[in-house]
Formats: sequence, structure tokens, C-alpha cells
Amino acid sequence: MKECIVVFDSGMGGITALIKAMEMLPQENFIFYGDNKNVPYGTKSYEEIQKLMDRVIEDITPFNPKSLVLACNTATVSSAEYLRKKYKLPIIGMEPAIKPALIDPKDQDKRVLLLATEATSHSKKLSQLISNVDKESRVDILPMPSLVHFAENLQFDGPELMEDIHCLLSSYDFNDYKAVVLGCTHFIWYIDFFHKILPPHIQLVDGNVGTIRQLSRRIVPTSGQEKGSVSIYFTKTITPEKKKFLEEAIPRKIQWLDSNSMK
Ligand code: DGL
Repeated sequence: MKECIVVFDSGMGGITALIKAMEMLPQENFIFYGDNKNVPYGTKSYEEIQKLMDRVIEDITPFNPKSLVLACNTATVSSAEYLRKKYKLPIIGMEPAIKPALIDPKDQDKRVLLLATEATSHSKKLSQLISNVDKESRVDILPMPSLVHFAENLQFDGPELMEDIHCLLSSYDFNDYKAVVLGCTHFIWYIDFFHKILPPHIQLVDGNVGTIRQLSRRIVPTSGQEKGSVSIYFTKTITPEKKKFLEEAIPRKIQWLDSNSMK
């Protein structure tokens, strides 16, 4: 069996990290595992998420991956430590990219708005990260669970989405802000949408590049010049529309896995 890296998310958010990983580590073989049967993770308890993650590890173990990337901030804050204690598999987590947003030398006095799921927003891990990097209390946190639902339904624009986002953001004066951190991989699909609705000086920051850099430091790279393979597994069958969307978004031939491949 070929050596592979598993990229995990509760659904299609982590596909944005998979695309980045394919670009930065083209020779690696990837399996994407999306637990869309149980999405959203962001409204679940840590215990529930940890149980689901045990199942993920059980499913991917036969592939003997060299690393598991949690392309999911929620799975990272709830389960990364739990999984590292329990399994030998190297686990790369993803945390909201607050630090790069804060240290950017431009507009040092301005604030940073973090958008995340409820589970990430209320996590101990996030408060620890904030107390380490945000000495001047310049980060505000806004949970945005509806965006996960919109992304899973491939709704990337339109009046319903616009109204929902406007309503959530209407109390913020973006003149006081310099950056918005996309602290949930599902939200990364909305970069163009956020650029459209936010003032042009607002920087959009996400954790994909930092996570894949961390992955590249932790693996023994696959040698050779040839491009690696990409397989995708979802725990619940996806619609033909979503399959087509992903085939257009992912710049390589996809091998689709079903539950039989997981046995
Ligand atoms: N994409 C995930 C994250 O980065 C979680 C979304 C969800 O399942 O609620 O947090």
C-alpha cells in the first residue's frame, strides 16, 4: 500500500486544506476523510467529538497513514490532545490564525475579529492561545455556526446568506479592525464573499498554510517527481452536485472511496 497522509474534517471545510496540501506537497498521496454524517461538530460536546474521532482513527488505521491532519479547528480544540495521548499516529492540528493576524505590522492598534464555530469559540485551547498572543486584548470572537450549514449546502452567495452574515456583522465597526480570522475551515470557502462585503482594508487570514507547513516539518517526504494520488471518503453519500463541485475545485483526478474501502 502506498504511504499516505489523511486530511480530516467534519465535512467539506477541510477540502480547502487538502487543496493547499496538494499544492505545497505535490508528491504526497492524500486521503481526505469527511465526516459529513455527523456535521456540524461545532455544536457538539467534546465527549461526542472525541468519540467520533475514535471512529475516524479506527477507519483510517488500515491505510497506515504517516500523519493525520485535523483540517478542522473544532476537532483540534476538542480532541487533538486526547488523540495524541491515545494513539501513536502523528497528529497535526489546526488552530485559528490569530497570531499572524496580530503580528502583522500594519495597523498595530487595530482589532482582529475571529470567526469560529461555537465549540472553538468557547474552548479552553482558544483562551490559552489568546492569553499567549493577545497581550493587549485586541481579539474579538464571533461564533458563526450557520456558515457551516451554508457551506455544506454549497450556498456561497445569495440573499439568504447575505442577510444572515449582515445580521451577524452589523454591530461591528470595521474601521476599528484590521483583520478577520477564518477560524473554521468551512469559512475559507467564503473568502471571495467576505472580500465582497467587508471594507477593502480588512485582511482575511486563515490557518491552512501554517498547518501544511507544520505537516511538512513532521513527515518524511515522499521522494520522486511524480504527483501523488488523491482519494476522498465521506461518511454519508454526497449529492452528484457536490461531487461535481469538488471535482471542479480539486486540481487532480479524484479516486472516490466508499464504505467498503473503509472495511
Ligand atoms: N470545519 C470545522 C472547523 O474548522 C468544523 C465545522 C463544524 O463541523 O461545525 O472548525
